[in-house]
Amino acid sequence: MQNFVTARAPGKINVALAVGDLADDGYHPLATVFLALNLTEDVTAHRAEGLSLEYAPGPIDTSDLATDESNLAIRAARLLADTTGHPADAALTITKRVPIAGGMGGGSADAAAALVACDALWGTNLTREDLVALAAKLGADVPFAVAGGVALGTGRGDVLSPVLTEGTFEWVLRLSDEGMSTPLTFRALDEHRAKHGAALGPVVDPEIEARVLHALRAGDPVALADALSNDLQAPALQLRPDLAEALEFGETHGALAGIVSGSGPTLGFLAADAAGADALAATFRREGHRVVRASGPVPGARVIEAA
Ligand code: C5P
Repeated sequence: MQNFVTARAPGKINVALAVGDLADDGYHPLATVFLALNLTEDVTAHRAEGLSLEYAPGPIDTSDLATDESNLAIRAARLLADTTGHPADAALTITKRVPIAGGMGGGSADAAAALVACDALWGTNLTREDLVALAAKLGADVPFAVAGGVALGTGRGDVLSPVLTEGTFEWVLRLSDEGMSTPLTFRALDEHRAKHGAALGPVVDPEIEARVLHALRAGDPVALADALSNDLQAPALQLRPDLAEALEFGETHGALAGIVSGSGPTLGFLAADAAGADALAATFRREGHRVVRASGPVPGARVIEAA
C-alpha cells in the first residue's frame, strides 16, 4: 500500500480553435487542437482521513485560490471516490507551475493529476478510458489534461482523438495581469456574427483546417505558425486592444506567429527553435512584459513518484 503518490499533468495551448454558433444548451460547439506544454502541475495525494487540499509554496501566487470543496482537484477526488465506492480519504498538495492566466488549463491539470494520483493511492486502478470519462464530468478541458500530447477536441472540446506529431514546438507565453471573462468573449463573437454573419451562414459543425494537422505531423513550426487560428481572437482583441499591440510586438520581434490562447488573455508565440524562443522571451522581458517559456507536446497525467 502506498503512503503517497505524486501525479503530474500538463497545461496546454490551443493551436487551433473553431467555434460554432451558440447551441440550445448555452454552449458553443467547438473544434480545437490542444497541445500539451511542459508547464505542469504536480498533485501529491497522501494517506489521510477525509479530503483536504493545500498549495505548496512556489513561483505562482496561489493565495486567491479556493481550497474547499469548490476546488476542481477536490471535486475530482470526490468524483473518483463516489464512482468507485472507495472512501474519500486523501490530503492533496498541489505544486503549481501553470500561470493562473486565462486559457492555459492549470485548474484542469490539477483535476487530471488529482484523479490519477488518487486512483493510484487508493488502488482503484481505473483504465485510461475510465479516467478520461470521469474527467469529462469535471470540465471540458480536463480530458485533454489526462490524455496529453496533441489531440483534436470536438463537442465542447472534451471528445478527443489523438493527433500525430513530430518533434517539439517552442513557445513564449505572454501573460496578462488582468483576467478576461470567457462568456463575454463568446458573446462578443455572437454579436459580431449577428451583425456580419448573414453572408457566412450558420456555423453548425466547426472544423479544423487540414493544414494545421499536416504542420503538426511534419513537425514544421513555420507551417504551424502559418496555420494557427482562433475564432475567439478577433472578439478578444476587440475587448482588449492592448493584446493586439502585444501580438504585433511579438510578431515583429522574432516570433513566427502569435495567437490568443483560448478565450484569452494569454498570448502564445511560436518560435522557429528554442534559441529563437529564448531570445524572444528576453526581448519581451526588457519591454516589461511578463512571459514564460514553454515547449511541447508532453505526455498527459501520469504518476511520477510513489512510496
Ligand atoms: O467552460 P466554462 O464553464 O468555463 O464556460 C463559461 C461560460 O463560457 C459558459 O457558461 C458559456 O457562456 C461560455 N462558453 C460557451 N461555449 C463553450 C465554452 C464556454 O459559450 N464551448
